[in-house]
Amino acid sequence: MMKTLIRIGCAAFMIAASSLAGASDPTLAATPPMGWNSWNHFACKVTAADVRAAADAIASDGMKDAGYIYVNIDDCWQGTRDDQGRIRPNEKFGDMKALVDYVHSKGLKIGIYSSPGPKTCAGYEGSYRHEEQDAQQYAEWGFDYLKYDWCSAERVYQRSQMADVYKKMHDALVRTGRPIVFSLCQYGYGRVWRWGASVGGNLWRTTEDINDHYDRMSVIGFDQNGLEPFAGPGHWNDPDMLEVGNGGMNHDEYLTHMSLWVLLAAPLLAGNDLSKMSPETLDILTNKEVIAIDQDARGIQGRRIAQEGPLEVWAKPLAGGGIAVGLFNRGESNNPLTVNFKDLGLKASANVRDLWSHKDLGSFRTSYTADIPRHGVVLVKVSE
Ligand code: GLA
Repeated sequence: MMKTLIRIGCAAFMIAASSLAGASDPTLAATPPMGWNSWNHFACKVTAADVRAAADAIASDGMKDAGYIYVNIDDCWQGTRDDQGRIRPNEKFGDMKALVDYVHSKGLKIGIYSSPGPKTCAGYEGSYRHEEQDAQQYAEWGFDYLKYDWCSAERVYQRSQMADVYKKMHDALVRTGRPIVFSLCQYGYGRVWRWGASVGGNLWRTTEDINDHYDRMSVIGFDQNGLEPFAGPGHWNDPDMLEVGNGGMNHDEYLTHMSLWVLLAAPLLAGNDLSKMSPETLDILTNKEVIAIDQDARGIQGRRIAQEGPLEVWAKPLAGGGIAVGLFNRGESNNPLTVNFKDLGLKASANVRDLWSHKDLGSFRTSYTADIPRHGVVLVKVSE
């Protein structure tokens, strides 16, 4: 039996207010940053060799061509400070400048990680009282991106100081003269989406950590609804990095993960071992029609336009007038699901194209219906 969806809200989309952009540099991250980050797969075991292998894979397997540019080292690269207070990499990283040069030689960019607190989340050296020096060091090494993770800052600052603490590092980065994407990681505390851009954030985590299970990924992803007014070119909501290919979800669940993240205009930071991925994983990560939704020049974050129990329809307006639509089934059995074109602000018939399979499905009058597998999705582009 056909499900009838309850329409919630009108089809008009709020375009991200440019006044929210504040101090964030819109030339950095004009579209959501794309790349790879070491944490979700390697965690604290990461080495310079893993980072080089990720860069090698991105440069040669089609990921760079699909838009993945940043190769980001997460926690656990830090050693001790020298007698001048300069941070040194630990023995797993050795010569940081050589690693940076290697990644740059592949036509890619590279990111680093620190905390405003004395220690990172994994207990390594943080930037507390060394902000200026660390920013200069990152620029000297040639880094292009910094993820700045609250962690032990909780011990030395009040939450009310958080915006100033982030601004301090942003100002230090600006003073280096090097363009460095600034990624705030403080798990969404204090409704960061309301002030992240004003302290120079190009992206800010909106949640606690993701993991490689459907329940966690889907709660995070579907809970982003309502944050769309705060995202736009240069300043993005970040529902955390991708788990695609890490093995904890099935194919439909990873398609849901990727489809939801592109509709959310989320940063796309692959979190798997790129040197060992299956062709199926590479296909999910590099589908160009799907990535184009994420990277669309209008930079509008999509939102839920209809819901009936576990069935949800999400939509994201695109440059050129089309609308990306995700038909999601969060339920435990397969279900048909309909998107009504009037809920998209469209009047009559429209053309529908399946983005995962690259197929024109034809012209439909007033609505489009598809069978959606358990935990799965159909992602289409609807154009009048
Ligand atoms: C926090 C962050 C993660 C990761 C780890 C590293 O949990 O949210 O993304 O950076 O710290 O220790």
